[in-house]
Amino acid sequence: MQIEIKDVHKTFYSKDGEEVKAVAGVDLTVTDNEFVSVVGPSGCGKSTLLEIVGGLTGLTNGEVLIDGEPISGPHPAVGLVFQQESAFPWRTVLENVEFGLEMHGVAKGERRERSRELIELVGLKGFEDRYPGELSGGMRQRVAIARTLVMNPGVLLMDEPFGALDEQTRLILGEELLRIWSKTKATALFITHSIEEAALLSDRVLVMSARPGSIRKVVTVHLERPRDSSVVSTHEFGDIVGEIWKVLREESMKTLKSQGQI
Ligand SMILES: Nc1ncnc2c1ncn2[C@@H]1O[C@H](COP(=O)(O)OP(=O)(O)OP(=O)(O)O)[C@@H](O)[C@H]1O
Ligand SMILES: [Mg+2]
Repeated sequence: MQIEIKDVHKTFYSKDGEEVKAVAGVDLTVTDNEFVSVVGPSGCGKSTLLEIVGGLTGLTNGEVLIDGEPISGPHPAVGLVFQQESAFPWRTVLENVEFGLEMHGVAKGERRERSRELIELVGLKGFEDRYPGELSGGMRQRVAIARTLVMNPGVLLMDEPFGALDEQTRLILGEELLRIWSKTKATALFITHSIEEAALLSDRVLVMSARPGSIRKVVTVHLERPRDSSVVSTHEFGDIVGEIWKVLREESMKTLKSQGQI
């Protein structure tokens, strides 16, 4: 599926009438089965942009099309994974993964079968009857990913899904995400603070400007697929990380200066 983001603007108005321009003129087409990551300084409007594409927040100007159709709310083919824990603590792993299918009235047998397949795919086989509280943070994020993927989304939107995890775990989970994504053929838009994660996963990495967010640079990642995290030690990878950081450093400095932090 294709995502077209056309000249999207978003301004928030606080109760006292103060304007916060979060997104200013983003243009982006993510083509069928492409993996695009977005990096940018904190507060530059990344989550806002993803929420707009997910149909969770309205926009002030511009439009978003999914396969040529303008969106006007959550689209049935779009799956979302957030940074914050989204598993229901009172449901087991299996019951969590089954949730969306249950809501769609899928019969119990089929629901179980599809959920078990996904649980195996994300490496949680054997943990079906555990509760989220009994799992590590990384395992809970796998549950969140399985819960979204079980719905077979054509578009996968992820907002720092590994943000709360340590660097080693996120690189390994990133690798697994690549393996799973290559099977699902979903079009992916991924937000991260990690330049390495962005370079490892993506076909293209967008660097956003300081708020209000617009696209400062697009870096194409010409690394061969399938990839795994051993690619991080190559010169080519280092060059890509350097290219992203050069622009991101400038934008992050602007943000920190405007906040009086440097
Ligand atoms: N509901 C809201 N009402 C008012 N302002 C908002 C709202 N949501 C976000 N903002 C503002 O919009 C700007 C962009 O926020 P957003 O969450 O999109 O940033 P971000 O790039 O995702 O940041 P981070 O990297 O820290 O997650 C911020 O200045 C934020 O305060
Ligand atoms: Mg955010």
